[in-house]
Amino acid sequence: MIKVFDDFDLSARNTFRMKVRCRKFIEYDSAKDLETLDFSALPGPVLSIGGGSNLLFSGDFPGTLLHSRIEYVKFFDLGLEKVPVAVGAGVCFDFLCAKMCAEDLWGLENLSLIPGDAGAAAVQNIGAYGVEFKDIMTGVSCYDTVLKQKCSFKREECGYGYRESIFKKPENKGRYIITGVMLELSRKPEPRLDYAPLKAAFEGRTPQSPQEVRDAVIAIRNSKLPDPAVTGSAGSFFKNPVVSPEKYAEIAASAAPDPVPHFDLPDGSVKIPAAWMIDRCKLKGHRCGGAQVYEKQPLVIVNASGEASPEEVLKLKDEVIARVEEQFGVQLHCEVEQI
Ligand code: EPU
Repeated sequence: MIKVFDDFDLSARNTFRMKVRCRKFIEYDSAKDLETLDFSALPGPVLSIGGGSNLLFSGDFPGTLLHSRIEYVKFFDLGLEKVPVAVGAGVCFDFLCAKMCAEDLWGLENLSLIPGDAGAAAVQNIGAYGVEFKDIMTGVSCYDTVLKQKCSFKREECGYGYRESIFKKPENKGRYIITGVMLELSRKPEPRLDYAPLKAAFEGRTPQSPQEVRDAVIAIRNSKLPDPAVTGSAGSFFKNPVVSPEKYAEIAASAAPDPVPHFDLPDGSVKIPAAWMIDRCKLKGHRCGGAQVYEKQPLVIVNASGEASPEEVLKLKDEVIARVEEQFGVQLHCEVEQI
């Protein structure tokens, strides 16, 4: 069934809690619903939003927002060692993580407590604690608004990279609406504890269930990241920059004797935590009106007052980018999508 709302208040539909509206907001609960929509008659631009947890509205949205309420979770054969699971794009991602852990299936536990919906997870290739969504998914089903037909992509066709996919490419903007994702969970224990704080949480012990890992991940996230129920944010605002080995050496020399946290990538380039750079620029807690660089994790910009405007968030973002550029000669890029 399709529900259409005009001049819709988006305050409860974006985790940054920006007080903005959109001209039309459409909810649908099946892929079939999309086939009945006349896209050319909708006020444009037409965009899909999930939980609104990775975006920043820079003002009222003049077009149409589509929101999936496709909410099934289907297990194909719980007796298999690799269990295929089909999931509707509108399923809350953390509900899904909790459900898989309750079934004692391994794969999603490291991604616990990430806000948003399953469809958006496939667009963004969400990641945390050494796991990315692409590691567990096998394919997506979509509705192609250009060819006006259903289509599907296998994982290999999705162009996944660090918070990247073909669905984020400018030429595909608004084209593919993800209606469902296929996952493959493991019955066999497969704990992934490469991320140091997670490994430390188990002190050399092997976790006995995905629920145990989920609990540890939730404890780590709660200690570092703002509680979405209390403070508005869109999680990491910036991506961690990838620099050349020469640039890394230059930054390491300038920070000495302090070590620079970093991650060597297979192609020889080096990923440096943006949080470390922002911290070195002494920007923790820095404010612009109601927007603030989060004290415990400076990669996150929060709506500290609850009344921050999009302009204040954008001004703070520009200040952070300028200060990091000035101090390190590195350009930070936003992870959050600006609309
Ligand atoms: N750090 C500082 N000062 C701080 C905080 C962190 O120097 O105040 C340094 C520390 O060296 C720390 C490093 O930054 O080891 C990295 O911080 P952290 O491990 O918290 O993770 P991150 O690289 O900042 C990424 C993801 C998060 C994900 C975590 C855990 C991105 C943009 N962010 O953050 O994802 O939860 O790793 O895997 O890749 C999100 O996408 O919204 C998100 C929260």
